Amino acid sequence: MVIRSINLETVCGVTSTLPVNGRPEVAFAGKSNVGKSSLINALVNRKSYARTSATPGKTQTINFYNINGEMYLVDLPGYGYARVSEREKEQWGKMIERYLHGSKQLKAVFLLIDIRHEPSANDRLMYEWVVNQGFEPVIIATKLDKIKRSQIQKHVKMLREGLSLVPGTKVIPFSSVTKQGRDEIWEFIESECLE
Ligand code: GTP
Ligand code: MG
Repeated sequence: MVIRSINLETVCGVTSTLPVNGRPEVAFAGKSNVGKSSLINALVNRKSYARTSATPGKTQTINFYNINGEMYLVDLPGYGYARVSEREKEQWGKMIERYLHGSKQLKAVFLLIDIRHEPSANDRLMYEWVVNQGFEPVIIATKLDKIKRSQIQKHVKMLREGLSLVPGTKVIPFSSVTKQGRDEIWEFIESECLE
């Protein structure tokens, strides 16, 4: 994808009305701090267009990034951040649910999982839930630069088993530091989500 323009067009809070824009959308879900905003920056070749942070819970809204006036990359709020109230967690959950359930233009959901760790109970719930909404999520195994090359297969297997992935589910190892995996993600978006 040649990026000609990028624009954070809509920011949705808990009570905002979701935009109806008529263009294809792809969404990025995953626990807080897993690297969703960093991935979006890598996809659009910017250092810090989407705000990232070492502090989990940075993205608390649904952010719609308009790419070339053609499509949207959608940054979802991270789940599983311990230091927020139960009420806030519930609100985020409802907001994400409303979006996944309600968007007419959502073509694919990418679920980001840290390649280093066993998927958490929240990761498993999120995966099942996305599947139950009728999507075949693509797993992006993030922070690939943090493990040795020789460990990649073992860790991918750990993710497949930990999430009980449907056989054939695509897993793309990715690093926002080295940009490894970036082209494969764009290839998937271009071939499966855009006509
Ligand atoms: P929330 O907005 O809180 O849900 O987090 P997020 O999923 O958007 O994570 P974010 O992109 O803000 O990244 C969190 C931290 O992980 C930051 O300090 C990033 O620099 C770091 N990080 C993200 N991706 C990678 C990666 O591929 N490799 C390494 N080494 N660090 C990464
Ligand atoms: Mg973020």
